[in-house]
Amino acid sequence: MNDINFDEKHISVLLDELVDSIKIFENKKNIIVDCTLGMWWHAIKIIEKMNQGDTFIWFDADTRNLKLARVRLEQANSDNKVEIILIHSNFVNLQEELDKVWIQKITWIYYDLWLSSLHVDEADRWFSFKLDGPLDMRFDTESSHPASFIVNKYTKDNLIKIFKEYGEEPMSKKIAEFIAKRRKIQKFETTKDLADLIGEASGNPKSKNRIFQALRIETNHELDYAKKSIEDAIQLLEVWWHIFVISFHSLEDRITKQTFKKETRDCICSDIICTCHHVKSLKLLNKKPILPTEEEIKRNPRSRSAKARWAEKI
Ligand SMILES: C[S@@+](CC[C@H](N)C(=O)[O-])C[C@H]1O[C@@H](n2cnc3c(N)ncnc32)[C@H](O)[C@@H]1O
Repeated sequence: MNDINFDEKHISVLLDELVDSIKIFENKKNIIVDCTLGMWWHAIKIIEKMNQGDTFIWFDADTRNLKLARVRLEQANSDNKVEIILIHSNFVNLQEELDKVWIQKITWIYYDLWLSSLHVDEADRWFSFKLDGPLDMRFDTESSHPASFIVNKYTKDNLIKIFKEYGEEPMSKKIAEFIAKRRKIQKFETTKDLADLIGEASGNPKSKNRIFQALRIETNHELDYAKKSIEDAIQLLEVWWHIFVISFHSLEDRITKQTFKKETRDCICSDIICTCHHVKSLKLLNKKPILPTEEEIKRNPRSRSAKARWAEKI
């Protein structure tokens, strides 16, 4: 692992778009939260913009990414210009974790959802069907169950449901049936083992990608956790300050879009006379999602599915 040049392992997406969106105020303490620190590039560029005495809080659920990033970021902040708080936690715990460090209000928050390229490219990080490794897929290996638990223990009907909902896989039923039959003889332990079986059940090479995605989403409770965290983030933001969310998949983007949309309305119930008394708290800063430029896609083909949404607390 020491031979790897981690600086080159992940290319940040929508780097300029995110960094340019951040306004730093001179006569105010800026408190910025990066909910998905990952491979640090966004964070390094943002440190450059920040003022002496500002606070930058970094979350990552993955201990290894956090350790790697700490070294790089301490170099970038060697003059201790910015107060840095590193939090090893899932961003679903945003509110509780900020309470622990006595932060009640924040001025900027952003998410760059889910996988870094490091996760995809290394077998021991368990996310790719192209490499063989343990069937785990957790960002935080100390939390919840690995993906093998889902594959070996969930009922067939539950597997069909998650494959359909989170993978949008047309062959969900057949693949779940193959899994249910095979696991009676031998449990699934590795990514290759599962990928081979998906290959047998479905002739479509895209099925592997879709089933692995569904398992990753279920293993990490990605959609529920993102929704809760984004809702909490909006509460934590000071008025006039911003939230920026980058996602890579239509399901993730839908969560952001719906959560933002709900917060731009004064009533969210369908009663003739409003009984929910919901008060809007956001203004959208981009009607259409922000997309990578053609030049960025050429430089980094993985960025092609990225979409960002940006909103201001009102
Ligand atoms: C796409 S990478 C972030 C890349 C980073 N913005 C950059 O510029 O290099 C996403 C990171 O978020 C972390 N992550 C994923 N889900 C998380 C969660 N629920 N809570 C906290 N961190 C999470 C992953 O471990 C990964 O390191």
